[in-house]
Amino acid sequence: MDWEENFNSHHDSNPRGPRAISLDVTFTGFDKLYGLPEHADTLALKGTGSTDPYRLYNLDVFEYELDNPMALYGAIPYVHALSPKHSVGMMWLNAAETWVDINYSNEKSIVGRVLSSIMSSDEVSRIDTHFMSESGLLDLFLFLGPTPKDVTRQYSNVFGPSYLPPLFAISYHQCRWNYNDQKDVLGVDANFDKYDIPMDVIWLDIEHTDGKRYFSWDARKFPESKEMLSTLAGKGRNMVTIIDPHIKVDKNWGLYKAGKDHSTCGIYVQNKDGGNFEGHCWPGTSSWVDYTSPCARQWWAEQFSYDNYQGSSPSLFTWNDMNEPSVFNGPEVSMPKDNLHAEQWEHRDVHNIYGHYMHKASSDGQVLRSQNTARPFVLSRAFFVGSHRIGPIWTGDNYASWEHLKMSIPMLLSLNVAGYPFVGADVGGFFGNPATELLVRWYQVGVLQPFLRAHAHIDTRRREPWLFGEENTALIRDALILRYQLLPYIYTQFYKASVDNSPIMRPLWYDHPSDTSLYSNQEEFLLGDSLLSSPVLESNEKSHLVTLPGPQVWYDYHSYTKYSPGTMHISVKLSSTPLFIKGGSILVTKMRVRRSSQLMESDPYTIIVALDNKGEAKGEAYVDDGKSFDYKNNKFSFQNLSFTGNKLSCRSGVKEAHYKSAGVERVVILGVDNSLSASHNGSPIISTFSKSSHSITLKKPNLVLSDEWDIEFS
Ligand code: NOJ
Repeated sequence: MDWEENFNSHHDSNPRGPRAISLDVTFTGFDKLYGLPEHADTLALKGTGSTDPYRLYNLDVFEYELDNPMALYGAIPYVHALSPKHSVGMMWLNAAETWVDINYSNEKSIVGRVLSSIMSSDEVSRIDTHFMSESGLLDLFLFLGPTPKDVTRQYSNVFGPSYLPPLFAISYHQCRWNYNDQKDVLGVDANFDKYDIPMDVIWLDIEHTDGKRYFSWDARKFPESKEMLSTLAGKGRNMVTIIDPHIKVDKNWGLYKAGKDHSTCGIYVQNKDGGNFEGHCWPGTSSWVDYTSPCARQWWAEQFSYDNYQGSSPSLFTWNDMNEPSVFNGPEVSMPKDNLHAEQWEHRDVHNIYGHYMHKASSDGQVLRSQNTARPFVLSRAFFVGSHRIGPIWTGDNYASWEHLKMSIPMLLSLNVAGYPFVGADVGGFFGNPATELLVRWYQVGVLQPFLRAHAHIDTRRREPWLFGEENTALIRDALILRYQLLPYIYTQFYKASVDNSPIMRPLWYDHPSDTSLYSNQEEFLLGDSLLSSPVLESNEKSHLVTLPGPQVWYDYHSYTKYSPGTMHISVKLSSTPLFIKGGSILVTKMRVRRSSQLMESDPYTIIVALDNKGEAKGEAYVDDGKSFDYKNNKFSFQNLSFTGNKLSCRSGVKEAHYKSAGVERVVILGVDNSLSASHNGSPIISTFSKSSHSITLKKPNLVLSDEWDIEFS
């Protein structure tokens, strides 16, 4: 029997015949389904009765459409089903092309009838799903909850917690296709100082290389890359260069040849006839490294050594793009499915995991070059189940439009729900030129999302933060300063994700699953468990709708105004970034902002205590050196902070952990009606009461965050 297929001019020999696998799963008694990244679609998954099913097949899609179940760059075949009383998660672990049909109904199945009698309700909603993959085995994981947090913990027990990034990785990244040469890079770097805007990393896209040969520099444009890197490093700044999976077929290039002539294993993916596959990408004719092979991964990792990657240094990190993989002349701009990988696996079997293994090999390479001392940082475009253990991803080639800005929220929330906390979208939009107002708003949203990078297409106008007039530069500066103030809090959330994979950017329902009115909210999000962002997503908005879930009160981050829970309109200006602190929580921040996160290391903390209606609050603070693996040897500090009974206490949350943090310069208590005097061990602490903002500020309490202490109020 002949199972060949033709697709436009492409031919799939499909020599092994059909091996599809599918399964129907009904979620009875659930209201909504979430997950299945990556799609530019609503947060709550839609019924697919009148559309294509959600497709999971990693692809490089040019100008992707919004509100569409079409495949994008990455795939996590995972859904989270939600009802007020119950959450469950389901992973369909399959790396072949996968389609998922979803049907919501109130129709009663037999199970539904039994359940409705138990639950004494007339209607039991059910969600029917149909998972279909082109090949593979039945490999299914069910996480039974019952709460969203339980599902997260169960997921983490199987697929691991998130990776703990170095501190610079969660700071601000400045990227563009392309910064032209060394002078350009150092000019951009100097302007960040001139305009007093913090920045941690400058990125170089494909044009920095010698003819798109990765691990090389264009010698005319970057003759002294090490000097450039060391100038940046002097200010605590790093650099990232792009490294793609396609290797230019150039018989005179050492790297290509080394792959071709490797003595112990095949380095390149093979075509169906067993020769090295060749296709087109940025460098012209190229071959693709077979990252599914452990031996090829090892070879790839070695390319990151300082000897192999000439002109690199410890402050140079990596961006893996085009790793779906993108093949310009291949079917759907990807690889023929009958290509062959290690152990004769067909590409069709491993397509969705290819990019993940590249991400892993690059990250391993960085760890190897540092002899296991420095945390890696590799951004990937393609991803699969488990990529959260390696490094961040971003949502690819978005567009400078309000619609794309809005879509960044459900896209990043879906990823977080599906177990991928460290994610971001290009700030400003990749294609097109953002209007100034849009760019400002995009920064205001982006600074509260986990991975924060501005990026732009080569054909766009320059858009560094100082190019839009003083007023707008000030607004962008304020947004970035907010990010840097919040770094200690955000880093603490990353630590928590590294323990149990808890989402960093969460839908409102995640912490409030019984409130069904939040199930379709995709305009607002929680950053960790204590902050709620309600960003302005419309041009010229004056009155902004905010939903603050109950039962606790909330405080405006900027003015400390107290809000009762509910849905309300607040007035906004272009300078407004609506951000609320949950009553009952304690946040650690740093208010002195410098040029980069590294330079803030020994700056003192400001602790913000936001009291609930009972006059209580609690929170956590994680601190380590921000770069090494020493935290694995207990060189960190994790403090539990609590305010109860007129006492603020700081206690070690992990007894065996030791790390000396910076001091505390200020404590602000929100939600107090009268002036109180404060003391530590009997010595008074200067405090001022603000009647207008109902807050008390304590100055110079002379305490260290990583110590154990109490402040008493009377
Ligand atoms: C596609 C990526 O998505 C984009 O971010 C990058 O600038 C271009 N490739 C060029 O490398």
